[in-house]
Amino acid sequence: MLDHGAPPHNGGPDAPHSEGVGMRLMRRKPVERLVAEGGRGEGGALRRSLGLWQLTMISIGATLGTGIFVVLGEAVPKAGPAVTLSFVIAGLTALFSALSYAELAGTIPVSGSSYSYAYATMGELIAWVCGWCLMLEYGVSVAAVAVGWGEYLNELLDGTIGVTLPAALSAPPGDGGIFNAPALIVVLLAMAFLLGGARESARANTVMVLVKIGALVLFCAIGVQGFRSGNYENFMPLGMAGVSAAGATLFFSYIGFDAASTAGEEAKNAQRDLPRAILLSLAIITALYVLVAAVAVGAKPWRQFTDSEATLAQIMREVTGQSFWGTLLAFCAVVAIASVVLTVLYGQTRILFAMSRDGLVPKVFARVSPRTGTPRANTLIVSLFCGVLAAAVPLGQLADATSIGTLFAFALVNVAVVVLRRSRPDMPRSFRVPLSPLLPALGLGFCLWMMGSLSTVTWVVFGVWMAVGLVFYFLYGYRRSRLAAPAPSEAK
Ligand code: ALA
Repeated sequence: MLDHGAPPHNGGPDAPHSEGVGMRLMRRKPVERLVAEGGRGEGGALRRSLGLWQLTMISIGATLGTGIFVVLGEAVPKAGPAVTLSFVIAGLTALFSALSYAELAGTIPVSGSSYSYAYATMGELIAWVCGWCLMLEYGVSVAAVAVGWGEYLNELLDGTIGVTLPAALSAPPGDGGIFNAPALIVVLLAMAFLLGGARESARANTVMVLVKIGALVLFCAIGVQGFRSGNYENFMPLGMAGVSAAGATLFFSYIGFDAASTAGEEAKNAQRDLPRAILLSLAIITALYVLVAAVAVGAKPWRQFTDSEATLAQIMREVTGQSFWGTLLAFCAVVAIASVVLTVLYGQTRILFAMSRDGLVPKVFARVSPRTGTPRANTLIVSLFCGVLAAAVPLGQLADATSIGTLFAFALVNVAVVVLRRSRPDMPRSFRVPLSPLLPALGLGFCLWMMGSLSTVTWVVFGVWMAVGLVFYFLYGYRRSRLAAPAPSEAK
């Protein structure tokens, strides 16, 4: 087995500098080596326990959440009834990238997701940039989503026992409070499941996903009774510009479909199941979103949509005339968002696991508990970090940065799929993107277009984030990269 504790041959601090800096930054990790190291960590191996069903549930779990329960209310005033079209456009952006993810996940079935795909195709520096972007997609978004959870929890408490948490305990400093306790609690709950094991977490997630799908189906069944075709008369009141602006906002609701690709080393049959799980989850999610949006704007004139967080609950109340439904939906939203926290936190731990195994972040992140077959120390550190971030920092612009970081990582995946086709046409692929390189090029174009529609402030936050990442890389990862150490097959 590979001795991860051994000093690196020529990538470590004491390495002979036979390679130029440029060459070192471009060094690629061979796919065979990525796959051979799969599952192995410091002191143990991850347990392969997840099948197609759980993998699909992980992707749906990470995706379906605040976007549909909260962001829909922000998007309708921008697009009118054509918000349904906005969902399709955002879904198409996700689809092109999902096809690329599916091909790479089936070819390089490891835990690092796009970080590992970039390492195999575009070299270490780009891989690091990608991994650093994934920390926005996963780590920062856990904190942002946990904050949304606290808001729904308050609504649920209000609807059931008529009590809400005081602002001091439910908002961070700068947002009118001292500490956001619910945000910390939901992250700690997710941590407890993850420490128990991947299979146990996947089971809990499956139950939560079924609750949230059930809630959306129930919403459609009830909302359709208030459907008025007249609400569709002026379909695109704010033109195509409104539709695309709403699409960019709604892209957030598709983030997470790639989460199954972080479970590559815990999947029972990763090559076969990862591509299927990614595409299946996206199909289910898109169908649900378009249906829910169509019913919502059919049941309520678009001008009456406000930025309210409880859009779906309000519509159910208006259609039935009973407040009970609002409370029920608040309960389902609490469950739904908790499952996003659980699965996205899971993804972040596995990405760091892969980066740590490569020596780019400290090796504590790759330590595996022999008892549970999970990276326990990693889970503890990541959870505490995300929990404190959620509880103590007003996330504002940082949450918007989640979308830009994700889009950038998706853009890189669309490039990686084409590069790997050229550099390794021989590799067995369990799924192939049709019409390559046309569809990956479209995926890349959509991602860049959406990035372009984000605000200047978001770009500045992104620029600062990337600069910090590069400093960290040159001070740490560049010197400690294990790429030059022997591959597992060569190691004794
Ligand atoms: N797509 C995830 C959500 O909507 C981030 O909560």
